[in-house]
Order: sequence, then C-alpha cells, then structure tokens
Amino acid sequence: MRTRAARKDGPMTTPQVLMCRPTYFTVSYRINPWMRPEEHTDTDLALRQWDTLYATYRDLGFGVELVDPLPGYPDMVFAANGGTVIDGIAWTARFRHTERAAEGPAYGAWFARHGLTVREASAVNEGEGDVLLVGDTIYAGTGFRTDPVAHAEAAEVFGREVVSLQLVDPRFYHLDTAFAVLDPAGGPGSVAYLPSAFDDASQEVLRFRFPDAVIASEDDASVLGLNCFSDGRTVVHAPQAEKFAADLAERGFGTVAVDTSELRRGGGGIKCCTLELRPDREA
Ligand code: ARG
Repeated sequence: MRTRAARKDGPMTTPQVLMCRPTYFTVSYRINPWMRPEEHTDTDLALRQWDTLYATYRDLGFGVELVDPLPGYPDMVFAANGGTVIDGIAWTARFRHTERAAEGPAYGAWFARHGLTVREASAVNEGEGDVLLVGDTIYAGTGFRTDPVAHAEAAEVFGREVVSLQLVDPRFYHLDTAFAVLDPAGGPGSVAYLPSAFDDASQEVLRFRFPDAVIASEDDASVLGLNCFSDGRTVVHAPQAEKFAADLAERGFGTVAVDTSELRRGGGGIKCCTLELRPDREA
C-alpha cells in the first residue's frame, strides 16, 4: 500500500461511516457506462479489495458500521447511495432505477434501528452519491440520477443551503465521481473536481466557491480518482490516480492508496463504498 503521512494540522474529523460487504457484487445489468454485464466479474477480488478499504478506515481510527448485503442487489456495496445522514437525520434514498429500488428501504431500516431520525424522501435521490456536505453547505448533483426537486427537499429536511450542480458527462453520473470533499470543514481549497463534468453555470459556481480547488485531470477522473474519501487530513484514493495523489501530497494531505479496481466495473470507487454518519450537532 502506498502511504504518505499528512503534513497538515488543525481540526480533523473522526468519521463514522457505514459500509456494505460486496458479498453479492457482480455486474448483471447496465445503468451507467462503466458497467459491462457481458464481462466476467471476480467477486472474491472485489471482497479482498473492499476488506483492504475497511481495514484502512479502521487503521485511520474511523468508526465503521456495517449493513447486511441483500442477495440479488449487487450494487448495495455502494453504500454512499443508501441515504444522506447529517445532524443525526437520515434522509432516505429513492433510486432512479428499479434494479436498485429495494436498497432504499434496506438502508432506511438500518438507520431506524440505529437511532437516527429517519425522513422518508419523496423525490428521486441517490444519497451521498449526489449530496455532499462541505462546511455548512450541501452541494447536490443532478443530470443523471438525483431529481432537482430533491435538492429543495434536502434544503427543507436539513435546514441548510443547497447548491445545485449540473452534471453533463454520463461517465460522471453521480456528483461523487466528479467532485471530492478534501476538507469537510470547507474553505476555498477544500474540494477537488473535474470541470468538464459540469455545465458552464456550475463550473462558474465552483470557481467562485472554491477558488483554490484541486483541479483534477481527465486521466485521474477516468480511474474514478475523485471518488476518494478524506477526513480532512488523509485522503484514501485510487492508486491509479497518480497526478491527483501528487497534487494532494503537495498540499500537505496524507495519502493512502487503496485499489478498488474490481468495484469500478460497477462504476463505483472508494467514496461510493462509504456513507458518512454525521451525528447530531448537540450529541
Ligand atoms: N452501479 C452503481 C450505479 O450505477 C454504482 C454506484 C456508484 N455510487 C456512487 N456513489 N457513485 O448506481
């Protein structure tokens, strides 16, 4: 594993995350351009890669919870899509495609069992795949999966500002494939993104809000490099995203490379496997 220590100090969060073992992972349908059901998938390899990600999070001190995988739901490993949890409120997911529909209630039941305040979504939204918190502001993607109506619903549910971002490249169909939160505390350089994945108006918004953002290359985004997870100090990322990792190190982030190449056959990477459980502010 390639690892570089962080040179940053200052506050960092100890994330609590929810993951789902890829016990039933395969590619049996195609709902994004990465998926090729005609190709063989190696479920054992996916499990080994996922185990490494799990162990990496534990080594970084994260709290990691697990939800039971459902047979017949090969994409359930992509826990980020299972909902959005902010301030102890779990806003459920409603999937765009019937192939994943049952995952919404499965994650919803987990949230309820674990003491979160569950708010059932009425609009189509794919959880943290399209809904990312930076500082106090929610950034929400639309264009392929999450309905723009869901952005207004998120603002109401969480009582926070929601900034809508329009995705335009089918390879980057979820916001978390084109936009990465490097520092959950926010700030001008707290994110990374691939400009060409967004329409002109959204690029303008991103330039204005994040003037010092890490601008990812096509090469790094094409290996789902932006689908990384950071506690604000250390970024867990795809080893294939070499320039991205070097840019992060230059900014003082620690980097840990974890290969989830087999899961990429489903169109997901590290962040997709990771749903953040943000506790109540008072808790
Ligand atoms: N096959 C899954 C889908 O297309 C991949 C989901 C990836 N998740 C994510 N958060 N980007 O729905």
